[in-house]
Amino acid sequence: MLKEDVAEVLITEKELQARIAELGKAISANYEGKDPLLVCVLRGAVVFLSDLIRQITIPHEIDFMAVSSYGGTRTESSGIVRILMDLTTNIQGREVLIVEDIVDTGLTLAYIIENLKTRRPASLRTCALLNKQERRQVDVPLDYVGFVIPNKFVIGYGLDYDEKYRNLPFVGVLKPEVYIE
Ligand code: IMP
Repeated sequence: MLKEDVAEVLITEKELQARIAELGKAISANYEGKDPLLVCVLRGAVVFLSDLIRQITIPHEIDFMAVSSYGGTRTESSGIVRILMDLTTNIQGREVLIVEDIVDTGLTLAYIIENLKTRRPASLRTCALLNKQERRQVDVPLDYVGFVIPNKFVIGYGLDYDEKYRNLPFVGVLKPEVYIE
């Protein structure tokens, strides 16, 4: 059972849903009349995006991009980012909001921001469910943040360890014996 591998629940399902409702409300107010495009960074942010958009009350669109950082380990990103799947929407002149699961070193989001900026959107903002502030290596502007979390590797609610645990409805920490490195 996946749940048996969890040492600690860091953010409960109830806490997640309450905070996401607040984020949805803020985004709806700030983007009123602007038809924003929410860019979901696959795969981790997909669970967050699907709950977030149901708390957004204004018209908007969604699109997806997939990136990978290669050369890292199962729990550390290398900082070398590559686009695996690009957006299908032309974002020139659009109000773009990047939706990320977690900002750790910041390298992935910094790369995505720089890349999308070159396409000349009308605005480019960021929304991250989790912010591991202590681990930041590069400064990235975060416009909407769900929770600031301690320097622990977390799983659940879209976040994986070795592609597993994304389906857990809460954010938790794995038992040390689960790690295979
Ligand atoms: P960054 O480039 O170091 O900011 O890392 C960003 C990406 O690494 C996130 O989008 C996640 O996919 C992954 N990541 C970072 N920290 C964690 C974690 O604690 N659990 C699961 N994935 C993580």
